[in-house]
This record gives sequence, structure tokens and C-alpha cells, in this order.
Amino acid sequence: MTTQRNALVTGANKGIGLETARRLAALGFKVWLGARDAERGAAAAEALRGEGFDVEWLELDVASDESVAAATKALAARAPGLDVLVNNAGIAPGYVEALGPDGSYERPPSQEDIADIKATYDVNVFGPVRVTQAFLPLLLASSGARVVMVSSNLGSLARAAGNSQSPNVMGYGSSKTALNAITVAFARELAPMGITVNAAAPGYTATDLNGHKGHRTVQQAAEIVVRLATLDAGGPTGGYFDENGPLPW
Ligand SMILES: NC(=O)c1ccc[n+]([C@@H]2O[C@H](COP(=O)([O-])OP(=O)(O)OC[C@H]3O[C@@H](n4cnc5c(N)ncnc54)[C@H](OP(=O)(O)O)[C@@H]3O)[C@@H](O)[C@H]2O)c1
Repeated sequence: MTTQRNALVTGANKGIGLETARRLAALGFKVWLGARDAERGAAAAEALRGEGFDVEWLELDVASDESVAAATKALAARAPGLDVLVNNAGIAPGYVEALGPDGSYERPPSQEDIADIKATYDVNVFGPVRVTQAFLPLLLASSGARVVMVSSNLGSLARAAGNSQSPNVMGYGSSKTALNAITVAFARELAPMGITVNAAAPGYTATDLNGHKGHRTVQQAAEIVVRLATLDAGGPTGGYFDENGPLPW
């Protein structure tokens, strides 16, 4: 007898999340494709079903307590547990507008809009906290669940402090630094329950987030996300990785 394994990917209607959903479905997971917009979510799930995968969309706005509560209830009614949670949804307001003609980032921290930073934190920081807390009962109902936080190289303080070439994106970068700290905090709590929690840096990837200026493909980006979502027992927890290994915090 085979047991259906369930995976939830937030912000999965496009970009790295969509590719992660595709890859997990190809590995045999039933994938719950989280999306805040009904039309975009349904269309993305339909497209993956058209490729032969077991995918359903789940209405999920990670910035809304009500939406996350409703999604938790909806999933609990349809799945016995959650084996994988990928906190992928993320935003970078104003990022594309701040890119110069050569693709360099041209907005200094002193000119970042606080409203943009607050909006960024609501999705990139409080979103994964809200979602992980809400879905924890379902994660605990599975054996050895895996949680992946989709972070960024820009979250690395070591890199930002030691590299003048690294783009100085204060709001977005610091949101991922906070997400890294949150990864460690959840990992410490959940290790005794056999749940791993790791942060993935997908690399600069061509998606809407950066006006497709990234040089990597979503297939390359999803590699480390999927790897951390499918760790064997005894795999690392509380780490920060790209596909080549651990990254400096
Ligand atoms: N692209 C890169 O170079 C890069 C590098 C490092 C890390 N990352 C991270 O990778 C993740 C995916 O980004 P991406 O590059 O694939 O960007 P993307 O193509 O813009 O996709 C972002 C996804 O997040 C969703 N989203 C935004 N706000 C949401 C909310 N409140 N609730 C639920 N979903 C929400 C978007 O939904 P809508 O379609 O409804 O807007 C979309 O599905 C993000 O966490 C990002 O920070 C990206």
C-alpha cells in the first residue's frame, strides 16, 4: 500500500514556486498549489494537471490571517497531514523600478520607501511565520515533515558586509535575513518532532520579481528548494543552503 504524500507550496502560481510545485508533483507528491488569486491559482493548477500531475490549488494569501486560517481548515478537511511545506511566496516592491539600464540596482537604502519595506516584511517575514504556525498541526500529523523557507543570497549579512558588489537592497535583503533567523528558531523547536526547517537560496533567477533580469532558470532555482523539501531522515536542519552547499549567514 502506498500512502499519498502531500506538499504545499505558497505563491506557486508562477516563477520558482510553480517550478517547485511541478518538481514535487513529478516526485509523486500531491501538490497543493497556494495562490492568493483564484484565477491565477486555478489556471496554474490546471496547467500542471495537464502535464499529468496531481495538483490542486489552495486559496492562500500569506499576508492575511483570515486567508491562512481558511486555507488551513480547507486542507485539514482534505488531507490527513502535510509532508512538505515550502514557504515560497515573496515580493520585492520597487526592485524592478530601481534597476538601471545595465541591470545594476540603483536605489540606496536612504531612499527606500518605508511603506514598501513594511509590505515586504508582511509577505516575506510574517507570511512564513503565519503559515508555518497555522499548518503546524498538519505537519505534526505526518512523520518527518520538511519545511523550506525560500530565502535569498541577499539575506546573508556576511555577504552584504563583505562584498561591495552585492546589491544593497535594504528592505528585501533584511526581510530574508529575518527569514533566516526565523528558520533557525523554528528548526530548534521542531527538531525533536523530526521536522527539518531549512532556508534555500535559489540564486538570481529570471522571474517577474526582477523583471526577468536574473540569469538563472527556474529549473536551476528549484533544485535546492526541492532537495531541502525531500531530505532523508537525519538530514540537516536550521541551515542555509544553495545547491553547492551551506552559505555564510
Ligand atoms: N527571482 C529571484 O532572483 C529570487 C532570488 C532569491 C530568492 N527569490 C525568492 O523566491 C521566491 C519566489 O520568487 P519568484 O522569483 O518566483 O517571484 P515571482 O515570479 O514574482 O513569484 C512570486 C509568487 O509569490 C506570490 N505572492 C506574492 N505575494 C503573495 C501573498 N501575499 N500571498 C501569497 N502569494 C503571494 C505571487 O503571487 P501573484 O502572482 O498573485 O503576485 C507569486 O506567485 C520569493 O520568496 C523570492 O523572494 C527569488
